[in-house]
Parts: sequence; C-alpha cells; structure tokens
Amino acid sequence: MTEPKKLFIKTYGCQMNVYDSERMAEALGGQGYVETKSADDADMILLNTCHIREKAAEKVYSELGRYKTLKAENPDLKIGVAGCVAQAEGEEIMRRQPLVDLVVGPQSYHRLPELEAKARNGEKALDTEFPEEDKFNHLKKRPKAKRGPTAFLTVQEGCDKFCAFCVVPYTRGAEVSRPAGRVLDEARDLVERGVREITLLGQNVNAYHGSGPDGSDWSLARLIWALNDIDGLERIRFTTSHPNDMSDDLIEAHGACAKLMPYLHLPVQSGSDHILKRMNRSHTAQSYIRLIERLRAARPDLLLSGDFIVGFPEESEADFQATMDLIEEVKYGYAYSFKYSTRPGTPAAERPQLAEDVKDDRLKRLQALITKQQREVQDSMVGKTVSVLFEKPGRFAGQMVGKSEYLHAVHVQGADLPAGTLAKVRIDSSGANSLSGTVQDSL
Ligand code: 5AD
Ligand code: SF4
Repeated sequence: MTEPKKLFIKTYGCQMNVYDSERMAEALGGQGYVETKSADDADMILLNTCHIREKAAEKVYSELGRYKTLKAENPDLKIGVAGCVAQAEGEEIMRRQPLVDLVVGPQSYHRLPELEAKARNGEKALDTEFPEEDKFNHLKKRPKAKRGPTAFLTVQEGCDKFCAFCVVPYTRGAEVSRPAGRVLDEARDLVERGVREITLLGQNVNAYHGSGPDGSDWSLARLIWALNDIDGLERIRFTTSHPNDMSDDLIEAHGACAKLMPYLHLPVQSGSDHILKRMNRSHTAQSYIRLIERLRAARPDLLLSGDFIVGFPEESEADFQATMDLIEEVKYGYAYSFKYSTRPGTPAAERPQLAEDVKDDRLKRLQALITKQQREVQDSMVGKTVSVLFEKPGRFAGQMVGKSEYLHAVHVQGADLPAGTLAKVRIDSSGANSLSGTVQDSL
C-alpha cells in the first residue's frame, strides 16, 4: 500500500471558505490525500484566501514566503492558492511567487484533482474560470465519516448587488443558487453523519432561488421548510442576508418554523441615507428599521447581528452619528465593524478617502457602543432557560460547551453530556464572552 499524501489547508476569511476547504479536502481525498495540522510534514499546502479587506493579498504573499525552506527541503512539496485572492490575482501569483504550483479560483474546485495531477507532473496549474455548472455537483460525494454536531452548507454563491465597497461580485461572480434537491440530499447525508445543526451559506443567501424538485423556483423560506422535515436535523440557520431580499415568506418562517433559530445576521453597513446611497445599498435606514420591526413582530426574541463600515468616502461626523443612532435603536446581540478599506476595481476605491485617524477614532467609538450592547444582550440571558446544542469539552475538566439558540456560547460543569446532545439549560451567569448554566433536562 502506498502511504497517503498529506494535505495542509490554511483557511482565511468567511464561513464559505471554511465549507470550501472541507470540500477541497474531500476532493483531494480521492487523490490519496489525508489532512494534516502542520505545514511542516505536508506534501501539499493549500491557502484558501480572502480578498474582502486590504492587506489580504499581502498576507498571502508573506505566508507563501515562509514556505521557501520547506520547499527547499522537500522538492516534491506542492503549493496551491485557492479562494478570492486566487480569483483576483490569477497568474500574477505565480509570477510574483514562483514557489506556487497551483492557482484555483472558487468556482473551479471541481477541477482540483486534474490540477493536482498537473502540478505533480511538474507543470504550473491554473484555473480561474467561471463555469456555468454547479461545482459541488462535480466534487466527490461527502464520505460517510462521522462528524461534529454542526455543519455549514453552501446553497448560493456570488452576488449581483455591487455595493460600491465590495469585491465579492468580482471574485465570486454572479449570483448562482444550487438546486434544492441537491441541497436536501447533502443535508440528509450530513444528518446521517451526526450533524444536528446546519447553517446555510451564501454571500447573499436570502436571494436564494434554486430550482426545486418540482421544477419551480424555490425561495430560501421554501428550502428551510423542506429542511424542517428532515428527522434528526434540529436546528437551521442561514447567513449572510441583504435587507432587500428579506421576503415575506422568510419573515413569516422566523415566527412559524420550529427548527429555524431566532438569530439573524442582517448587515446594514451604515445608518446614514446619504452614505447608504453612495454605497449603492438601495435601502434606507428607515426601511431597515421597519424591516427589523416586522421581523421582531414575527419572532419577538429574535437576536440580531450586523456589519458596519466606518470611514466610507464622504462620511461626515453627522453620517457617523446616524450609524450610532441606528445601533442604539436596533440593539444588536452581535456586530462586526470594519474601517473602510479600498478594494481595487470597486467604485468607492476611486473616490477621495477620509484620513486614517478619523476612521480609527470612529471605529473605536462604534466598537465601544457595540461591545456594551452585546454585553447587555448577553447579560439579559441570566435567569432564562435556553436550549443548548453541546459541541465539545470546555477548557476545564468536566466542562462541556455548546451554543444556545441565540448563538451565545454556554458552558456547563459536571454534566455527563456527549457532543451532539441538545439540552435545556438555565443560565446562571454571564462572563466576558460566554454564559454558564445548569442543565435542566436533555431534549
Ligand atoms: N472595507 C471594509 N469593510 C468591508 N466589508 C466588505 N467590503 C469592505 C471594505 N472594502 C465588510 C462589510 C461586509 C463584511 C463581510 O465585510 O461590512 O458585510
Ligand atoms: Fe458585497 Fe454583500 Fe454588497 Fe454583495 S450584498 S456586494 S456580498 S456587501
């Protein structure tokens, strides 16, 4: 028997990259690779890269530079770059860093086995095409190995919104939805392997419109209702959504669908209508607030999370204040905030930019507000009973950690619960980044 070859994948960026890395490892599994946790003993290193904010490409080049000695020690080592930097830079990567044997864009992962064979043959292998077909259909079926209780499942890729700051429409291409039947098959397969919670992924997931087994177009809500019928699947989540695609059936599902968790990531980016317009967001602060009201009417305990960009071109102190006011009004359970960073090829990159110290100052103030809010929302869980899906042992002996329906990390002590157990937990205290509680009963 030949020794399996070792594959080291380093994943940057979003959850979609986490999912893609899993699928790439499976595809290369068919070529005799097993995953390793260290680059040092790898036969192949794959960097799955992110291009969303500045310096991402520079980070990739400096990481690649670190592999020089490894390649000198092991000339058979193959080095590949995947993900959005691969898409954006293409051949340029091989020119700048001759160590790289393989470059593959996010829409070409089904061609990895061929590309790997080419690289093994000593040739440079590159594919950054946008083929029409569903790349996941061509990837090997997931093997039946047991896995943890939570999983990501990509249902939609790409984006047609063209927000003025964002590279996604260029790196991931136009919006494409996977057929519903394939998503359901993959979900059933995951459940057979021990998964109890699935997070549906898409850059613009609520714009999902995959063809259904009946030939009609299915909305995301319809897909969620079909997933709701899968025995053994207990929880459904989805991310990331655009306010303009929050359709009535999806809002309704938040109130009616038992397995859909009361958590929604709904980025607004800014609270100023002028800035939203310049960002090409095609919604206003008021229409966003009204949407939140409708969602909360359907599901009063819905926990909201958001993304914010500060220091976008033309953002005045009053515009920034409007964002702070919106945050005060919505009250977020989680929020992610970023300083605007210019992305080559996007419209806003060409505009006059704000001074760095202004951006730094605004980011600091915004983060102070959301940290306070997050903590208040988390603290408000004390005394409540939540449902927890336990995932793994905690840092201390006898401790288990899981996530509540609101995505808060919850620790319990001394309960004998295997991973994958769903239990009612009374929350006793709230710490820096997690809650602690006592198991009431297993579900
Ligand atoms: N600069 C700063 N933040 C950005 N995001 C996307 N593009 C940029 C950029 N050029 C943020 C948005 C998005 C999140 C994934 O990343 O808030 O929702
Ligand atoms: Fe980027 Fe999201 Fe806007 Fe699409 S909707 S362009 S992914 S920020």
